[in-house]
Amino acid sequence: MNDRKSFGGSIGFVLAAAGSAVGLGNIWRFPYLAAKDGGGLFLLVYLILLVTFGFALLSSEVAIGRKTKQSPLTAYDKIQKGWKWLGICACIVPAIIMPYYSAIGGWVLKYFMVFASGEGAQAAQDGFFGAFITGQYDTVGYMAVFLVACTAVIVLGVNKGIEASSKIIMPLLIILILIISLYSLTISYNDPSGVTRTGMEGLAIYLIPNFDGLTFSGFMTILMDAMGQLFFSLSVAMGIMIAYGSYVSDDADAVSAVNRIEFFDTLVAMLAGLMIIPAVYTFMGVEGLASSGPGLMFVSLPKVFQSMGSMGTIIGVMFFVMVLFAAVTSAVSIMEAVVSSIMDEFHISRIKAAVIEFVVAMVFGIVVCLGYNDFYFELTLPNGATAQVLDLMDYVSNNLLMPIVAIATCVLIGWVAGPQVAISEFEKNGESFSRTKIYIFMIKYVAPVMLFILLVKSSGLITF
Ligand code: PHE
Repeated sequence: MNDRKSFGGSIGFVLAAAGSAVGLGNIWRFPYLAAKDGGGLFLLVYLILLVTFGFALLSSEVAIGRKTKQSPLTAYDKIQKGWKWLGICACIVPAIIMPYYSAIGGWVLKYFMVFASGEGAQAAQDGFFGAFITGQYDTVGYMAVFLVACTAVIVLGVNKGIEASSKIIMPLLIILILIISLYSLTISYNDPSGVTRTGMEGLAIYLIPNFDGLTFSGFMTILMDAMGQLFFSLSVAMGIMIAYGSYVSDDADAVSAVNRIEFFDTLVAMLAGLMIIPAVYTFMGVEGLASSGPGLMFVSLPKVFQSMGSMGTIIGVMFFVMVLFAAVTSAVSIMEAVVSSIMDEFHISRIKAAVIEFVVAMVFGIVVCLGYNDFYFELTLPNGATAQVLDLMDYVSNNLLMPIVAIATCVLIGWVAGPQVAISEFEKNGESFSRTKIYIFMIKYVAPVMLFILLVKSSGLITF
């Protein structure tokens, strides 16, 4: 990261960080995990983790970034000599995420095209999504276009431009999601067996935790999924928030910036769940929720749009274009993390580094796309999901590598360097860091111990 400019105040940082945080994780990943893990209980666990773990990790990373003013590759080492390895681990995570993120970006692009050409009704047919992703060339083509677009943004250095435009698109996206969610609460569906289900019943499933028949192992799975989702959604445990933190000017109020990012990111995820889960329940019942996988949003939303009549096409086009935008802003931040690390490590130009990352992401992206075709397999993951290439990569990054990076970050800040390193960074302009006590408690004890237990569970080596 050569020309390291500071964000003017905290607002530039909040915009950029929110652009990175709000993306497919909120709109695609959160709803399908919430559906798989029974709605209300997942939501509750997620929120508790957010205000404890999520907050502690996000704060630590922003503090490390602002204090060292370095990219993740070298920042940990600057905090404490001998910790460069953590920077390397942290950079591997976005390199794994980029290919499959692009594959899903491609799915969004496809759906945008389908709706824009007025064929949204087709997308609502059963089997449309399955036929699309199991195709051989279609998915690869859309993924490639998405990846080229992201690479162009990185090479042309127009990140700032798209960050600025998120100021308009993000609020619009939230309003649109809100409209769709309110609508989906009003729908009802008479299934072929004569049962009528309504959106309001689906809302109850989404919001009210259900402890019936909950086993310890089942609870651990929910905890594990919620934790992986939290990392992914907040863009923590992979160095990205360190990179962003390094751009925050010293006189900006970092505490309120962290709070705003947390709030905004969670708001979008919760609304996305509200938009998707009641609809899935209405059209596909409880089994539809339980069997949900990465295709959930693509299967259920077209049905909602179709039931809106002619308005549905317009809403569908607007929705997919905005999700596409949110996906690009996040994907660019993922790619930027890898590219800046390659530049720092090998002392090569931005363009060369971008080309290297483009090729790597392309090759693995093709493998991900063909994971539903030539490379199809069925693997049962320790969290009970049946995985193809995409799910496997997602699992390795979110449930295995991110916890490792997070544990190491907790040990570094909590024990080796000391929590005061982060706290003093937050209070250096006389702000008060109101959650000091909980921060210390989390970063030293609760987070590392819990993360370790979850890591053991995620690895599948020990079952409990
Ligand atoms: N947080 C982004 C999202 O929710 C995804 C992301 C992952 C961004 C990793 C940066 C790094 O979609």
